[in-house]
Amino acid sequence: MTTETIENFLKSDDWMQDAAGPRYVRLRKRIEESIETGLLGESAPLPAEREIANLTGLSRVTVRRAMQDLVDRGIIVQRQGSGSFVADGTPKVEQSLSRLTSFTEDMTRRGLNSSSEWLERGVHTPSPEEVMALALSSGEAVARISRLRRANDRPMAIERASLPIDILPKPQLVESSLYEVLGRDGNRPVRALQRISAVNLESEDSELLGVEPGAAGLRIVRTSYLANRRVVEFTRSIYRGDAYDFVAELRLANS
Ligand code: GLP
Repeated sequence: MTTETIENFLKSDDWMQDAAGPRYVRLRKRIEESIETGLLGESAPLPAEREIANLTGLSRVTVRRAMQDLVDRGIIVQRQGSGSFVADGTPKVEQSLSRLTSFTEDMTRRGLNSSSEWLERGVHTPSPEEVMALALSSGEAVARISRLRRANDRPMAIERASLPIDILPKPQLVESSLYEVLGRDGNRPVRALQRISAVNLESEDSELLGVEPGAAGLRIVRTSYLANRRVVEFTRSIYRGDAYDFVAELRLANS
């Protein structure tokens, strides 16, 4: 019995004739089919572009176009230096940079199920960074909640939030959404500043997020304010680099 390989699957000569549409679309669909039928499983490597061109008789330009289409659709991922792989099912989330929303809301809007694993939830003596960021007075405690956040059971981000204790006196009461608890008490932030930078994930964070140490990530620091300009939240987050696309709407000045 011969086991089907992706090479044979791409080589067989009829599919290109049988399918309709531009050649790169036909190739894209053929590769999609190999994933749908389970010939290529999650995270499986794809043959190199050069090899696909040889197997199919298509030009490198056509192959590249099909591969790019698969990347844009989140079906495959390309890693510098190591090639293309079937995506591992981590949802790719397009995130607006101008709306002040919560993780739970962002995931719900996309039809994804959000869940969290608690890393820390309690009242602590603040660090100098927290005293500064939250403008705490001396001797004031801080509420901390740290969570590994998941969408459809896939780890997406680690979020470490610090809040003044009078804003969140009982961190244990946060079960799923922090903003929901704040909203209930009339403390939901109305404005926030967010700083985003690129990081290579350290081993502890990469393990939680299920990626290799050193993988690309995004560090997002959000400082949120109440309408009276008081700081309500100081959150340091690490997002998986492959799970997010940040989108900002830009307008010409004065228009
Ligand atoms: C986003 C923000 C965090 C905020 C969180 C609240 O992910 N980056 O700063 O704390 O949403 O989310 P939720 O209300 O789901 O706990």
